Amino acid sequence: MLALFNIIASTTAIAETEYNKQEPIFPIPTKVEVNEARAQLGEKLFTDVRLSKDKNIACSSCHQLSAGGDDNVAFGISSSADHHIVNTPSIFNARYNFRQNWDGSSNTLQEQIETVITNHHEFNNQWSSVLTELSQDEILTREFNRTYNDGLTKNNIIDAIVEFANTLITPNARFDRYLRNEDNVMTKKEIDGYHVFKDLGCISCHQGINIGGNLYQKFGVFYNYLAERGNISKVDYGRMNQTSRQFDAFVFKVPSLRNVAVTAPYLHDGSAKTIEQAITIMGRTQLGRSLTENEVYLLKAFLKTLTGEYKNKPLDDAS
Ligand code: HEC
Ligand code: HEC
Repeated sequence: MLALFNIIASTTAIAETEYNKQEPIFPIPTKVEVNEARAQLGEKLFTDVRLSKDKNIACSSCHQLSAGGDDNVAFGISSSADHHIVNTPSIFNARYNFRQNWDGSSNTLQEQIETVITNHHEFNNQWSSVLTELSQDEILTREFNRTYNDGLTKNNIIDAIVEFANTLITPNARFDRYLRNEDNVMTKKEIDGYHVFKDLGCISCHQGINIGGNLYQKFGVFYNYLAERGNISKVDYGRMNQTSRQFDAFVFKVPSLRNVAVTAPYLHDGSAKTIEQAITIMGRTQLGRSLTENEVYLLKAFLKTLTGEYKNKPLDDAS
């Protein structure tokens, strides 16, 4: 297991600072290299409503950088004013996920962003309309010409947004500083919470640099929460919608737990309103256990140490 973690660590180039390599979770690097000019163009597009069909929403409507990188509601609202069918995941640290989206339907950030434009639960637009619209903007066109040899194209729009998304990391969570052997960054209660997280087996699914985001697992290994919730719909089948294999029914990408304290509500259906509810559901569905009040309390204390910083300020849920 440790060898595997070391391979992941070296391929994601995170070894800039020493940290405790005995642990199954590793810190977010404090800096990442990006092409600044491209990332700046991407940052502009991130808040640009012209990408959406009715010019009414931007990436930042659902992925609010001041609110944990998500939107604090069960379902975001599309350009055509209908509700999305799954809860918005945070865009922070998405670059470290092995696939994108709850069901892993996009292999890369490039693919993910390409589909946002046309997804009718998101921008509900056509790429040709986006290009026509943006090419009327002389300043933007000039900036694209300066930054890319072939100027304003679909691929370059995607590339710029990906480059910006690559800057959206949240280093310096207190837990990361603990992994880097800094003294007095976590209380005894929080460290106990981490031990409970490992001892109960949460760590078997939520680990690695993103504390999740690196494997698929069935939601409901021990207990069928979705049956209890009722109204099972197509999206609840998760991975099966991509593979058409019965075997993949109710299988999802294990979500990252980074910044989880500021990204309520939880689960792909947004049905867990509080972190305590999410923890309790996990105990029942994934581990077959009724967690004690003290276990939930300690786990929550630990999860709250996973909140990192963006632009040198701790993330906040802004709700
Ligand atoms: C209407 C709300 C909405 C808008 C607008 C939106 N997103 Fe999302 N985003 C979502 C939802 C919901 C998902 C999960 C979709 C799924 O799992 O099928 C998601 C998933 C993602 C993911 C994958 C994250 C993960 O952990 O799997 C990334 C990256 C992302 N969006 C980036 C963007 C970017 C960049 C834009 C603008 C080009 C954008 N989104 C616009 C709601 C939105
Ligand atoms: C067998 C794998 C597995 C184990 C073990 C597991 N989880 Fe999860 N966890 C998942 C999956 C899969 C989801 C997404 C479920 C969904 O929404 O469909 C998830 C979701 C979550 C969420 C919600 C995240 C969000 O952004 O919506 C939290 C919080 C969480 N887990 C915490 C825990 C804790 C705490 C434990 C231990 C008590 C634990 N998990 C054990 C697989 C697992």
